[in-house]
Amino acid sequence: MFNTVLHTTRDDRMESEQELMRIGVSLPDNLLTRFDGILSKRGYSSRSEGIRDAIRSYIRYYEWASEVEGDRLGVISLTYNHEQHGLIDALADIQHQHLDVIQSSMHFHADAKTCLEVITLHGDAANLKKVAEDLMALKGVQHLKLTTISPIK
Ligand code: NI
Repeated sequence: MFNTVLHTTRDDRMESEQELMRIGVSLPDNLLTRFDGILSKRGYSSRSEGIRDAIRSYIRYYEWASEVEGDRLGVISLTYNHEQHGLIDALADIQHQHLDVIQSSMHFHADAKTCLEVITLHGDAANLKKVAEDLMALKGVQHLKLTTISPIK
């Protein structure tokens, strides 16, 4: 079975008949600007609608992640800014701490600052997710995605 991150669907309106709660959220200006840019490109009628979809997508991702279990093959792809102080050493340290599940890695210099790294793994899903979470927590890591599949017996 192939597992990948589920994408948000705009027609998921299960909550639509429920009472709407109003919340206040503080966000950095540049984060909101980028979010609004995406909403505008995707044709959202309101920021609230976009935030609801983003929250649904976030919940789905974590529900998906918690369903991944047992023996899995995995690929982690991540991009990072290699000029971030200490990041390259920290990335190497984490990978050396998980030799039991990491099979190989490939490094691609994407532009002057950005590196793309692809790591292949095999082991218990919990350990694969631990590697992904440890890497994701590092300052300077921009995007990270873990995809897993069941090995063919
Ligand atoms: Ni590089």
